[in-house]
Amino acid sequence: MITFDSQQQVFNLSNSKISYLFSIEEGGLLSHLYYGPRIRHYHGERRYPRIDRGFSGNLPHSKDRTYSKDDLLQEYSGNNTGDYRLPAITVKGSDGARFTDFRYDSYRIIDGKPALPGLPSSYVKDNDEAQTLEVNLKDATLKLTLTLVYSIYKDRAVVTRNARLQNNSNQPIDIEKIASMQLDLTKHDYDLVYLPGQYALERQTRRVALNQGIFEISSRRDSSSHHMNPFAALVDKDTDEFHGNALGVLLVYSGNHKISIERDQIDQTRLIAGINDFNFSWHLEPGESFQTPEAITVFSTKGLNGMSQIFHHLLRERVARGKFQYADRPIVINNWEATFFDFNDQKLDEVVKEAKPLGIEMFVLDDGWFGHRNDDNSSLGDWFVNKDKVNLKRVAKQTHDAGMKFGLWFEPEMISVDSDLYRKHPDWALAEPGRGSTLSRNQLVLDFSRPEVVDNIFQQMCKILDAVSIDYIKWDCNRNLTEVYSQAVSPDHEGEIAHREILGVYSLMDRLTKRYPNILFEGCSGGGGRFDAGILYYMPQSWPSDDTDAAERLKIQDGTSLVYPISSMSAHVSVSPNQQTGRSISFKTRGDVAMAGVFGYELDLAKLTDDEKQQVKKQIAFYKQHRHLIQYGDFYRLESPFTSNTVAWEFVSPDKSEALLFMFRQQHTNRMEIVNTKMVALDPQRDYSDMTSDQVFGGDELMNVGLYRDPKHVGDYLSEVHYFKEV
Ligand code: GLA
Repeated sequence: MITFDSQQQVFNLSNSKISYLFSIEEGGLLSHLYYGPRIRHYHGERRYPRIDRGFSGNLPHSKDRTYSKDDLLQEYSGNNTGDYRLPAITVKGSDGARFTDFRYDSYRIIDGKPALPGLPSSYVKDNDEAQTLEVNLKDATLKLTLTLVYSIYKDRAVVTRNARLQNNSNQPIDIEKIASMQLDLTKHDYDLVYLPGQYALERQTRRVALNQGIFEISSRRDSSSHHMNPFAALVDKDTDEFHGNALGVLLVYSGNHKISIERDQIDQTRLIAGINDFNFSWHLEPGESFQTPEAITVFSTKGLNGMSQIFHHLLRERVARGKFQYADRPIVINNWEATFFDFNDQKLDEVVKEAKPLGIEMFVLDDGWFGHRNDDNSSLGDWFVNKDKVNLKRVAKQTHDAGMKFGLWFEPEMISVDSDLYRKHPDWALAEPGRGSTLSRNQLVLDFSRPEVVDNIFQQMCKILDAVSIDYIKWDCNRNLTEVYSQAVSPDHEGEIAHREILGVYSLMDRLTKRYPNILFEGCSGGGGRFDAGILYYMPQSWPSDDTDAAERLKIQDGTSLVYPISSMSAHVSVSPNQQTGRSISFKTRGDVAMAGVFGYELDLAKLTDDEKQQVKKQIAFYKQHRHLIQYGDFYRLESPFTSNTVAWEFVSPDKSEALLFMFRQQHTNRMEIVNTKMVALDPQRDYSDMTSDQVFGGDELMNVGLYRDPKHVGDYLSEVHYFKEV
């Protein structure tokens, strides 16, 4: 998969789908040549066309005025040494100088794909699956070695990247920026597709035209955030859901991130992705090294759906791990929107009693069971049972006796001022002494850069998990970071705290998921504030949003699906009118939207009418029948709520023997639009029976002629679901 042509000085990473090519240019600069569909033979016309460009300087000691770092397509740019575009790395030397100039030194190719210490990353199950290229570059003055790491999978249109910096000098240095990757692309008119959002309205797909200047996708909240997912795709102007090129970049990281896209003076595009350099610095003593998180790049020639497919397969198959990676996920009843903090044993028993006959498989007890927590003002950090309110062991037993699984909510990274933990260890919260602390949801953030703090929370959680039989954990994180300052490190290291905080979070997740392999973990951060590939490595599913309004969920789930697989996305039916938006939507549509994810309920079952209970039973029976297809089939957006009033999502089994079609209409208007939905990825030669109407259609007909929505449907937010089975 990876070769080096020593004559042409070209590295070639190729598999049956893609090629990634770069060369060692004059002066030992690494120059990007190509990333895209597979090239059988690269014929070697690699030299970059040289031009004497005014105000673009040349290499030191060279009289050649036509060779400039300022327009060369580079693999990883330094700082203050001739490339005026954004650098991938900035270092402050012990003399205060900020220069970086890395030149080629050596390389090695290894089978497989090494794990990154302390960080999540995509992996291989055996070493035949991928190859890895490590290219060492040196900055001769600073005596630093930079290793650029590239891995290519045998059967996937994926190249992963990361970088490592080693201090071989006898002086400390401070890293001020170090990206996971840089990608320089030749002149081209790209559109950018990305996923901005906000609390309770996450991952809203946007597409903008790129022009000269810098576009930044970033978070400074020390969380991947509701506001900007760590993802970007560069697409051609004519790329749509099914056609055209899409180059996707995703960081496997949950902290401050930044993807910058710069279009330079001659319309070349540079993309740099990694840890955000905002308030970042990392003090590196002689002999020490720094490892960046991983960036995943994918290349699709089949539009955005093609890109999503590559991401879905990779994230599901080689990022998610553990016992539940491919397991059918249980149907949940969560008490949060039903009771909020106001519950006791009797109310919880009621939930289980109601849920069981409906076919629900797991009861999740949400926030409020610990310390003396009856609202969101107290007790985070006190992970012992609030015995005045609930007998946790008994509730777990009761749930298990009813034949259901039992799940529990935690928010491990946080601390309330009103908590025993804070009273004992006020310095364990991130804060600078003498400066007030910003409260958010009345809580502070624990200093997880300190191992003793992580240990304490680990031990408290183990005590509960060892005493009570728990099948599932909802891991919440309900605020972003401020006053990022640790009282346990010297001033030299304060710039490291945001990243060290995330490393602490990962270490706790790692220890708990290893110690309790039979617990299914679900990520959550005030809904979908940390829906990212880093969390997915530890937790195969996450709560995409606190907004459970089916209308808004259409967009949230559609946007999330751009990158993340359906098996990672939980979705619950909640009460109507919806508690977040006040909108009323039929029980059927709420069910259909939630069934397009990892299904569950989040309402007071006792308040349902008999008719609604019958509907719940039907939904659950239907979901159980098709759960595997939904959670692990191939998912396609046929009509997206961001571009159309109608929405259609399709799930197809890999062997094309069955498919599910979910169709929704957002607003009804008297235009009475007639929409013809065409399915995809079926076998044109096979016939399929629509189990809803009992009609038989050819795969060719479903894909080319298509289906109309039921014309009798009048009203907003109506849905239709069809199940097709090969006959
Ligand atoms: C967050 C979660 C909710 C719920 C509450 C509990 O907002 O997203 O689902 O668990 O916390 O406080």
